[in-house]
Amino acid sequence: MPSHTPATTPRSRHDEAAYDSRRLRQYLAGEARADGVTRRRLLALLAATAAATTLPRAAQARASASATPATAGSPIVKPLPPEWFVQRGTNAETRWEALRGTGHHTPNELFFVRNHTTTPVLEAADWRLRLWGDGLRGGRGEDRPVEFGYDDLRALPAVTRTAFVECAGNGRSHYTTQQGETVSGTPWTLGAIGVARWRGVRLADVLHRAGLTRYAVDVQPRGLDAEYLSGGESLGRVRRPLPVAKAMDDVLLAYEMNGEPLPADHGHPVRVLVPSWVGIASVKWVGDIEVSARPLYSPWNTTFYRLFGSAHPEGGSAPIGRQTTKSAFELASGATFTAGEGRVLHGRSWSGAGGIVRVDVSTDGGSSWRPARLHDRPRPDTWTRWSLPWRPDTPGPTHLLARATDSAGRTQPVTSVPNTQGYLFDAVVRHPVTVL
Ligand code: MTE
Repeated sequence: MPSHTPATTPRSRHDEAAYDSRRLRQYLAGEARADGVTRRRLLALLAATAAATTLPRAAQARASASATPATAGSPIVKPLPPEWFVQRGTNAETRWEALRGTGHHTPNELFFVRNHTTTPVLEAADWRLRLWGDGLRGGRGEDRPVEFGYDDLRALPAVTRTAFVECAGNGRSHYTTQQGETVSGTPWTLGAIGVARWRGVRLADVLHRAGLTRYAVDVQPRGLDAEYLSGGESLGRVRRPLPVAKAMDDVLLAYEMNGEPLPADHGHPVRVLVPSWVGIASVKWVGDIEVSARPLYSPWNTTFYRLFGSAHPEGGSAPIGRQTTKSAFELASGATFTAGEGRVLHGRSWSGAGGIVRVDVSTDGGSSWRPARLHDRPRPDTWTRWSLPWRPDTPGPTHLLARATDSAGRTQPVTSVPNTQGYLFDAVVRHPVTVL
């Protein structure tokens, strides 16, 4: 039976804010360590990754030696027809024009893929989830974990939740194209997002059964995909700490996506699903979860997924969590329209801070705005589809703009505050079209 827990209770918001400010103080005090990596080393790594964010194929092949590789030569298992996807290194970005008419949920075949290395092909029957750490009763070492098999998870109460997964760097290329900023990372346009109906068990239920104590502060899921190499150095398997308050709130261990067993590229047999947070939190192919009584650090909450740059605290911001607000048209870049002919523009807007309550659209490059008709009721963790009729009268190039406001009162700004790795873009995107 579907159950929809509000994503952001005042308490969880408060806990998240307290956690962030505590974390920020720790970073500023120089306490941040990623598995023994010093802050200076992290900054060196950061510089190295700015130069080399995508691995050469040969390095990827070496890195994935311990996992069953995907289709020979491709880091992604599913077909990637060019009319649906733009391939970007080990990743695949969904084309927005391919979402036209697809309904609220993104079909699995069309869902973007963000892989640090290569999709491992895992069997549910062989899979185990191991929970360990000093935040569990009895202080369990990694060699003495509490284990769950796939059938054990399926036997727990199931919940279903509609939520987006969106890369923290979605929209990154617009820092450059619209704002002239140099940023590192995959140059996504706006297609590093998808919405699915996820089914699984509450992470809270699993943590309780594993013997969570009140001393636990962080939980760190780790993927079973190959170790990630950056700047020629292994950073280990993908893993990122999550505050216990969020883990106990609305996080799922998902085994189904849109009514099907989780596809290989999206984490089969089980992934973490952290609603409204940056996609890196939703660890795919989860194999173990460390439950810790002390704050945890990994490259994914120290070197990556923090905000660096002159607009941010020296040494970087706290690790990023909730996503920003964005809007996109279900149209190709450079789409053409005929002067004097009526058309209906379609698009979607979403936010990590709440549902979308209003969308304004400009068809004249931002000079005038009209409210769009909303087709979904505002709901947290997912997008709202919208439309607006348009009869262009003047031939020539122009820009379409959409500007969303969410239930937390956030309206997309004209420019986004930059950061060196191009995360959390939220400005209104100027979508180029031509009227013939
Ligand atoms: N989990 C593992 N184990 N390995 C990964 O490379 N990528 C993360 C996250 N979980 C990743 C992972 C990132 S950065 C994102 S945006 C999402 O998965 C993408 O999920 P998707 O490929 O299902 O769209």
